[in-house]
Amino acid sequence: MKKFKAGVIGCGTISPMHLQSLNTVGNVELKAVCDVNVERAADKANRYSCNYYTDYKEMLDREGLDVVHICTPHYLHAPMAIYAANRGVNVLTEKPMAVSLQDADDMIKAAKDSQVTLGVIFQNRYNPGSVLIKNTLESGELGRIISGRLSVVWHRSDSYYSESDWRGTWDREGGGVIINQAIHTLDLMRWFVDVPIDYVEANISNRFHPGIEVEDCAEGVIFYKNGVRALFYTTTSYSYDVPVELELHCENGLARLVADKAVIRFDDGREVCADVDKNEVMDYGDGVKSYWGVSHCKQIRAFYESLAKGERPFIDGVEARKTQELVCAIYRSGKENRRIYL
Ligand SMILES: NC(=O)c1ccc[n+]([C@@H]2O[C@H](COP(=O)([O-])OP(=O)(O)OC[C@H]3O[C@@H](n4cnc5c(N)ncnc54)[C@H](O)[C@@H]3O)[C@@H](O)[C@H]2O)c1
Repeated sequence: MKKFKAGVIGCGTISPMHLQSLNTVGNVELKAVCDVNVERAADKANRYSCNYYTDYKEMLDREGLDVVHICTPHYLHAPMAIYAANRGVNVLTEKPMAVSLQDADDMIKAAKDSQVTLGVIFQNRYNPGSVLIKNTLESGELGRIISGRLSVVWHRSDSYYSESDWRGTWDREGGGVIINQAIHTLDLMRWFVDVPIDYVEANISNRFHPGIEVEDCAEGVIFYKNGVRALFYTTTSYSYDVPVELELHCENGLARLVADKAVIRFDDGREVCADVDKNEVMDYGDGVKSYWGVSHCKQIRAFYESLAKGERPFIDGVEARKTQELVCAIYRSGKENRRIYL
């Protein structure tokens, strides 16, 4: 069996999800990690017995990698992915794919030109609840989707932003609650409805975080070409993290996600549920929330399986671009105060 040689760029908060997941994928050898913060890079290299770098270009030029995982601030995803693709290295980048649609397009083009695979992490699609809703919608049992709603009402402290040199900025984070926190739930909504979007109409504002440039609150509607309207409300200004909610009102019942648990209630009285398996946890050390990683691990394993088979991964650049386009349209609508057609 071919062993893929992997590297990870960015050794911050999310990196253990990738590093630990790589440990569980049989056909991968972690060769190196990279971070501009040399202590972080050395610490991870020590823990995972690999080389470390502070310059990602040097790592890519020297290590002969097959795959690079990008776990860096948003604005770096595109240049790093393009540099890797141009050297024939497959890329798996964290969400969001990029900070602009142009960057996303450039990433897709670079991957296509070099015939490498580009994957984007949206691990919540692998949660059992998300899978149940998607499968039930596809089975036709719920009938037509009539409308949807989602809310992401969380708390992010002033220090969450002030202790980071990229969060809370337009040029480096690319936005606030929409592109960082709510993007997962917006991606789920887009994937569940799964028809082209007609237009987006949104308001964005900064209500409670005067120290940041970007929005900490956004609400609006996504109007799909089949007439489905999906309403959204998202903020990082609440006093705690309320479980994320997503609901689809369908012809034959309601599909509802609260946090990771899906409950589908059919009008005929039947009910089906799915939740994360509480026994399915990974220990990441560093106080990292273990439930995050189970679906990360599933997506990372599936990515390598698709590479081994020479198949397109489930969430490739073209698929992730659709959610990037949605996010960018929400920002345009909020900034220009008008409806944006996609
Ligand atoms: N999928 C999820 O649920 C999830 C959760 C959290 C974060 N993320 C994503 O993961 C990415 C990273 O987020 P984070 O919370 O780990 O951020 P972080 O700030 O904790 O870590 C980023 C790391 O990148 C390093 N870095 C910055 N510039 C670099 C460069 N030029 N070369 C090498 N390393 C560099 C920093 O030193 C830092 O260690 C973001 O895209 C974020 O949205 C995803």
